[in-house]
Amino acid sequence: METTLILLKPDTIERSLIGQVIARLEAKGLKITGLKMMQLDDAIIEEHYDFLMDKPFFPNIKKYMTRTPIVAIAAKGANAIATVRMLTGATNPVEALPGSIRGDLALSIDANIIHASDTSENAEIELNRFFKGTDIFTYNKLTDEVL
Ligand code: CMP
Repeated sequence: METTLILLKPDTIERSLIGQVIARLEAKGLKITGLKMMQLDDAIIEEHYDFLMDKPFFPNIKKYMTRTPIVAIAAKGANAIATVRMLTGATNPVEALPGSIRGDLALSIDANIIHASDTSENAEIELNRFFKGTDIFTYNKLTDEVL
């Protein structure tokens, strides 16, 4: 089983889409093991998106990601990292397939609803960035045996 880090970005909160996005994760069979609303600051954005620091759009990312709280989610399941990336769709919502979260719910590359870890290495780093160990829970679901 893998656990991945998901961020519901400011537009998700501003557009009242938190429930819709979480419902898609749960419907897929992923187990929510961590969930919290957070106000991000410049420091955590600079760490999280350090590979984009020299891009001309980086100031916009910072402004957008700090304007409204986000919701951080730890989601667990078989191949959770690749599965959530597939559910998420392409970074640019214009290219994201219908049926994916971005394909169905987003139109802007900045306000693209969701961030999801891309590799197991990054998932571990990103989970540690947004959750303390005690904020991630272990529990049984009635459906566990079929996952
Ligand atoms: P995310 O999957 O969180 O990873 C990096 C983010 O940078 C990406 O989603 C986009 O929201 C944001 N971004 C803004 N402009 C661009 C761009 N031109 N190319 C790639 N990512 C961009």
